[in-house]
Amino acid sequence: LSDLYLPVLLGTVRQGNRSHGVADFVLARGRGRPGVETRLFDPAMLPFGNLVQREWEMDPRPPEVAAFVTEMARADGFLIVTPEYNRGLPGALKNLLDHLYEPWNRKPFALVGVSNGPVGGARVVMALHDVVMGLGGVTVPLAILVREVDEVFEGDHPVKDAEKTQKGVDKLWGELEWYARALKAARSAPAR
Ligand SMILES: Cc1cc2nc3c(=O)[nH]c(=O)nc-3n(C[C@H](O)[C@H](O)[C@H](O)COP(=O)(O)O)c2cc1C
Repeated sequence: LSDLYLPVLLGTVRQGNRSHGVADFVLARGRGRPGVETRLFDPAMLPFGNLVQREWEMDPRPPEVAAFVTEMARADGFLIVTPEYNRGLPGALKNLLDHLYEPWNRKPFALVGVSNGPVGGARVVMALHDVVMGLGGVTVPLAILVREVDEVFEGDHPVKDAEKTQKGVDKLWGELEWYARALKAARSAPAR
């Protein structure tokens, strides 16, 4: 029986993006964790165009939007796997996050930054700290960087530094679970 629902959000819709493989690996590690329910949300599969109205302003609200909002609302936290684009976050991810507000509130976000360079990933993680704060969420202090993704990952599994990558991802899940449990308990406690 799972007590935590922690979806994985992919940050990009770029054709042939490498982050999807990393997200699949992260998802597989999450599926093996007791008490955790997870699934992957790919913004390419979601019906969000550039923001014209936020989800609660849409009338009528498309059923796919309503279904996505319901899933995010019942989530206890999120694990974002995203590439760094021009030192920031991909427009697709920002757009997706901007469409919702309430479902992100007082919930933890764990971050995985992906890049093909030697120093990338850190800057998208830093940019997301600010964005998540804007959404009323909190970021888990630990973050994972997958650098040189072309060399480190083949499809959905690490082929270089595999043990290190797996350990890091497992630790990140553990941290996310800790914050998700703490904040879930606090959200359900009587307001004072
Ligand atoms: C529009 C764009 C901007 C990028 N900017 C950066 C960057 O600022 N820093 C970086 O390390 N890599 C950057 N990259 C390269 C990505 O790290 C590389 O594409 C990697 O595979 C992860 O992105 P992906 O999931 O789209 O494949 C950029 C790629 C694109 C398409």
